[in-house]
Amino acid sequence: MQMAQPTAPVAPVAQLRCIACGLVADQTAPNFRCSACGDLLEIAAITSFDATELKARWLQRRTSRLPLDQSGVWRFRDLLPRLPDESTIITLREGNTPLYHLPGCARIAGLRHLTAKHQGMNPTGSFKDTGMTVAASVARQQGFRWVACASTGNTSASMAAYAARGPMRSLVLIPEGKVSWGKLSQALDYGAVTCQLKTDFDGCTRVLNEVIQRMPVYLLNSVNPYRIEGQKTAAIELLEQLDWQPPDHVIVPGGNLGNSSALGKAFLEMKNLGFISTLPRISIIQAEGANALVRTMRETGGTRLIAVDAETAASAIRIGNPASWKKAVRVLQATGGAVEQVSEVEIALAKAEIGADGIGCEPASAVTLAGLKKLVKQGFVKSGESVVLILTGHLLKDPEFTLKFHRGDLFAGSAHEKAAGILAAQQRAPIVLDAAADEVVKVLEKAERGL
Ligand code: F0G
Repeated sequence: MQMAQPTAPVAPVAQLRCIACGLVADQTAPNFRCSACGDLLEIAAITSFDATELKARWLQRRTSRLPLDQSGVWRFRDLLPRLPDESTIITLREGNTPLYHLPGCARIAGLRHLTAKHQGMNPTGSFKDTGMTVAASVARQQGFRWVACASTGNTSASMAAYAARGPMRSLVLIPEGKVSWGKLSQALDYGAVTCQLKTDFDGCTRVLNEVIQRMPVYLLNSVNPYRIEGQKTAAIELLEQLDWQPPDHVIVPGGNLGNSSALGKAFLEMKNLGFISTLPRISIIQAEGANALVRTMRETGGTRLIAVDAETAASAIRIGNPASWKKAVRVLQATGGAVEQVSEVEIALAKAEIGADGIGCEPASAVTLAGLKKLVKQGFVKSGESVVLILTGHLLKDPEFTLKFHRGDLFAGSAHEKAAGILAAQQRAPIVLDAAADEVVKVLEKAERGL
């Protein structure tokens, strides 16, 4: 097979440090693990900058026509690893995602205000693009022809797009039958070599770790610390949107735990650099059936990972052995956040409620609202506090879930069927009619009477 020889280990673009033993890596192995202890690496934070000057510079860039300035990631490039060649950075103008008020959801949760940062409004429909622009650009600049990831769908869609723009080839490993059609079709259209393995996400990760030892492919999962750096910018952009007034709480879904780690790293760095004087509490919500972090915190106080066999219809977070669990534990401890788990029915209900506010998201994102309701009930979040939900994926990522929900089929024949009775009020199945105005008028009148 004609492939460039493995260039790994390669010199890192920025200073990489092991999160466990602190060793500074002067070379990166294909799996981005510490050569001494095998733990994850992270990029050492920049420690001094003039916050006032940077805020002005970032605002100024919003008037620019340069692609890098138009990217909601690279606009903050002063706090990102400095790539040797800015002209070959791959950008789809990612980031720049809106904040939305969710009045209906606020009322339901028992809060005065509730805000969502919709990371599903990124170019490929998920937050993954913010990290991918950085890590894919590093791959390109280091001369890789192939990039690869194991994925529950969104990483693969994002990676395939950025690879195509590179141009580089991409290899996707996904669990057979457990990735939504929307995400799978993106990877196919963007030209990825897509392998559906007869295993789950954790099995795909295992296989990929072997492949990268044998072939010169560049790993783009979130153990890649450049992805984490890019994903940090969502927090920076959020603070800018809030005029540098940090919210009291930020609520994030937890899967492989890269995103919560990235957002936490960003808030901590922004505090150290003097952009903010208080930290939001970052709380992480998981599906009950994929609750490794919840169990890890409750049963070991965060000292030892309790891996689980994951099962949830929120397929994006169907992960039992999260790679970045130690980073996430640090974020919980440093910010005083909570972990919580939510049931399948609670996820489905919360997703419909976010949809009813005219926003919508994919199931994994809806765990945030479902978890928030519990945190309010527990008194951890107070009604007057400011809360931002991080919605990680677009509604159209998983239309099958939504259709089944509204048709009442989502839990048919499952163990959740009885509990799902409470969903009826949210279900709006399509109404099949003869092609006659009379029929439609009747439906309209009935709807107006609230029937
Ligand atoms: N929400 C969505 C929509 C996701 O796609 C993911 C992860 C998460 C939340 C969890 O984020 O892993 O950083 O804790 N999706 C990955 C993928 C695993 O392959 O697309 P995390």
